[in-house]
Amino acid sequence: MLVKKDMQELDFSALKQDFPILTQQNRNKPLVYLDSASSAQKPRQVIEAMSHFYLQDYANIHRGIYELSELATDLYENTRQVIKNLIHAPKADEIIFVSGTTEGINLVANSFGRANWQAEDEVIISHMEHHSNIVPWLLLQKEIGIKVKVIPITDEGAMDLNVYPTLFTPRTKLVALNHASNILGTINPIKEMIAIAHAHNVPVLIDGAQAVPHMPVDVQDLDCDFYVFSGHKLYGPTGTGVLYGKKHLLEAMPPYQSGGGMIETVSFEEVTFAKVPQKFEAGTPNIAGVIGLGAAAAYVQSQGIENIFRHEQALLQYAEEKLLQIPGLRLIGTAKPKLGVLSFVMDHLHPHDIGTVLDHEGIAIRAGHHCAMPLMERFNVPATLRASLGLYNHQQDIDVLVEAIYLAKRFLG
Ligand SMILES: Cc1ncc(COP(=O)(O)O)c(C=O)c1O
Repeated sequence: MLVKKDMQELDFSALKQDFPILTQQNRNKPLVYLDSASSAQKPRQVIEAMSHFYLQDYANIHRGIYELSELATDLYENTRQVIKNLIHAPKADEIIFVSGTTEGINLVANSFGRANWQAEDEVIISHMEHHSNIVPWLLLQKEIGIKVKVIPITDEGAMDLNVYPTLFTPRTKLVALNHASNILGTINPIKEMIAIAHAHNVPVLIDGAQAVPHMPVDVQDLDCDFYVFSGHKLYGPTGTGVLYGKKHLLEAMPPYQSGGGMIETVSFEEVTFAKVPQKFEAGTPNIAGVIGLGAAAAYVQSQGIENIFRHEQALLQYAEEKLLQIPGLRLIGTAKPKLGVLSFVMDHLHPHDIGTVLDHEGIAIRAGHHCAMPLMERFNVPATLRASLGLYNHQQDIDVLVEAIYLAKRFLG
């Protein structure tokens, strides 16, 4: 178990033991993992919770009257409690397990949206959304004729708050925004933006995929109506995620998928549905994954999310200073406050070519459009390189990255 030296510092020798994968090699060089915004590595505690469940405690949940099934149910339901605490939700039954942020947003679009919206109704999103917070709304635009309105962003990568309030009309039905951008790193002023939406009686969905692993989140303080995030970016397993929704909204929404687990009674004439959250968890869920997600959230809490935030902020500052000294390097996303996401391009060099050189230096970094093509267009670039930080990164990782970028410049330039 990771031991804290004090309230501010994470203990890296203990961290290395928690994340054995990070002691491996990448192309015969020590692995430098800088792709946590895409997916985070998993601590031993998460892997052990899942393998212990499969080895010792496995059974289906909510069904069996035998001890093993009760135990599995308790372990699964315990994660709901852990997640409730992590994001300060008022009630555990406002936590719905989904396969990830993508499914959480699709659930809201297809249940809340389809049940309540008609042609000409409007949804406000921003220019810095991930495709998973764009495409579900565009599909509804195509299918039922809603309009998608887009908040522009500044050259630094902040929401244009002058334009945002002007987008509301009596037809506005939802605002859907990311808490923090996966490319720019910008932490958006969502509390203020939610208050503006509520002043127009418009509910707000927040895509917290990038925020939850890196900063404290309090859904009651934010007063958001829906909040979604992915387990795999929170040091948890793939195929897990969370949709938080205010109880009265969830209760009024029709089911998203149907089958076993989400009903109360079924006859050939009539079906009645289980209460929230079971109404939205059709079929046998990802039981081991959810148990792993609980272990991941507990792991993050054991480190202290404030400690993680402070650590990554210090590292972000160090990385920005170092990267900006490299001639020809341009950071995309300089608005503050921001998370530890460093997107950049280099004069005359293609991001994929640099990414290939970095890979040969042991560095795992993403090059591409990062599932946000409209944002690439906004900054007039085909792709960027993106180094993204996790709690296990430290200054040495940045030093290796900077050295390797100089090498790529010499090699490719
Ligand atoms: C801001 C944001 N939203 C949504 C997603 C989609 O998450 P997932 O693929 O886990 O569903 C991501 C993933 O990178 C993201 O960064």
